[in-house]
Amino acid sequence: MEDTILIIGAGGQIGVELALALRARYGNDRVIASDIKDPHPLLSDGPFVHLDVMDADAVRQVVQGKKVTQIYLLAAILSATGEKNPLWAWDINMKSLLSVLDICVQEKVSKLYWPSSIAVFGPTTPENHTPQKTVLEPTTVYGISKYAGELWCQYYFNKYGLDVRSIRYPGLISWKSAPGGGTTDYAIDIYIEALQKGSYTCFLSENTYLPMMYMDDAIRATIELMEAPKEQIRNRLAYNLGGISFSPAEIAASIRRHIPGFTISYAPDFRQAIADSWPNSIDDSEAHKDWGWKHEYDLESMTSAMLENLKVKLAQ
Ligand code: NAD
Ligand code: SER
Repeated sequence: MEDTILIIGAGGQIGVELALALRARYGNDRVIASDIKDPHPLLSDGPFVHLDVMDADAVRQVVQGKKVTQIYLLAAILSATGEKNPLWAWDINMKSLLSVLDICVQEKVSKLYWPSSIAVFGPTTPENHTPQKTVLEPTTVYGISKYAGELWCQYYFNKYGLDVRSIRYPGLISWKSAPGGGTTDYAIDIYIEALQKGSYTCFLSENTYLPMMYMDDAIRATIELMEAPKEQIRNRLAYNLGGISFSPAEIAASIRRHIPGFTISYAPDFRQAIADSWPNSIDDSEAHKDWGWKHEYDLESMTSAMLENLKVKLAQ
C-alpha cells in the first residue's frame, strides 16, 4: 500500500520545502499539507487542509478520512517567540505532540516525524562538537519542551512500538519560506538585508558561534532518516545533526566576497543569552554511523546559493 503523508505546520520555514520534496518523491496527491494559516502559494499543486493541531478531533478526522499512514508534525513555537510567552509556548509545543502521539497509536499511523533542536542543550553542555549523549539542561522554554518531547517520543516507541523518528536540527538557513521566530534567524535576515540595503545590524554579537545548516541538507536528512530501515534507528530520542558552525563576523565575511561593500554592526538583544546557552558545533557521528548521514553544504556554498536564489526572488 502506498503511504499517505500528512504534514502539520506545512506553511512554515521547513514545512514548505519538506512538502515540495516529499511531493516530488511520492507524488503530489500522496502528501497532504496542513496549517492553521492559509496555504503557502508554493503548495498549490497538492492537497491542503486548514488544521489547528490543538484540535485533536479535527486532526483525528483528517487522519481517518484521508487514511493517513505517516505524519510529519512541524507546528511549534520557536525559541525567541517562546521566551516572550513561555506558558503559551509550552502548551502548544507539548499538547500538540502528546495529542498527535496518541492519535498515531489509536489510528495505527505507521510513522511519525517530530523535529527536536540544538535547543535541548544548555550552558552546562560541552560547547564544541557536542556529543549525542551529554548533559541536557536547557534554559529556554523551547529547549525544555524539545527535551521533554524527545523523552515522550522515546516513551511511545518503547511502550506502544510507535515508529517515531527525530532530529536535533541546527539553525536552518533557507530562502523559499520565511523563518518563524528563532534565535538563528539572523543568518537568513543578513542575506536579505545584504542584497536590499548593503548593511545589517545583527542581534547577536560578532563572535557568537552556532551550529547551522542549509535547508537542502536538512530536508535530505529528514527524508533519509524517515526512509532508513527500522533496525538502523538505534536512537529514539533525536539524532544530533551537524552541519556548519560560524559566527556573525564569519558569515559577513563570506557575504563580502560577493558584495564587497557590505557592512555589519552589532546590537545584541535578549536572543544573545539564548545563543550563548547553545553549543558552537555538533558531533553527529551517530547519525553517520546509523543511517549514513553526511552534510554537503559549507558556509561558502551556502552563501552562493542563498544570494543567487534570493536575488531572483527579491526581484519578483
Ligand atoms: P515555523 O514557525 O516556520 O513553522 C511552523 C508552522 O506551524 C507555521 O506555518 C505555523 O502557522 C504552523 N502552526 C503554528 N501553530 C499551529 C497550530 N496550532 N496548528 C497548525 N499549525 C500551526 O517553524 P519551522 O522553522 O518550520 O520549524 C518546524 C519544526 O522544526 C518545529 O518543531 C521547530 O521547533 C523545528 N526546528 C526548526 C529549526 C529551524 O531552524 N527552523 C531548528 C530546529 C528545530
Ligand atoms: N532555529 C531554531 C531557533 O532558533 C533552533 O531550534 O529557535
